[in-house]
Amino acid sequence: REVWVLNGVNLGRLGTRQTDIYGLTSYAELAALCEAAGRARGLAVRVRQTDAEHELVGWLHEAADAAVPVVLNPAAWSHYSVAVRDACAMLTAPLVEVHLSNIHAREAFRHHSVVSAVAAGVICGLGTDGYVLALTHLANRLADA
Ligand code: DQA
Repeated sequence: REVWVLNGVNLGRLGTRQTDIYGLTSYAELAALCEAAGRARGLAVRVRQTDAEHELVGWLHEAADAAVPVVLNPAAWSHYSVAVRDACAMLTAPLVEVHLSNIHAREAFRHHSVVSAVAAGVICGLGTDGYVLALTHLANRLADA
């Protein structure tokens, strides 16, 4: 079963970006980690990243049409993009929201995610493990369905 891992703005710079907060794992390593974790759980994982909001919205529309489950790190868009939230609300298969950092332990403007209310669940603060845990959940959930 196919699952998409979608990453928002600035996440392509993982590995060099504020490593004290986001860790030393590069975006390419994160993508490989997700693909391997998916494979081990019987999922065909496709990982993508964009800095263009309209591109992410387009992928979410495609996921909605194809009923593809999604792991999404909406990055900064989490905190203000009603457009990304509305696209997430249209999804027809489960959505898991992931943040590498613990957004609740950071600046006040990061404490709220407009996406969370339309996600099946949210994982934050566990670094790249969060992605693996999200994929584990989707594999379990899809096996039960
Ligand atoms: C993030 C947290 C956001 O507040 C931030 O804008 C990001 C990454 C995370 O993965 O911890 O870009 O979503």
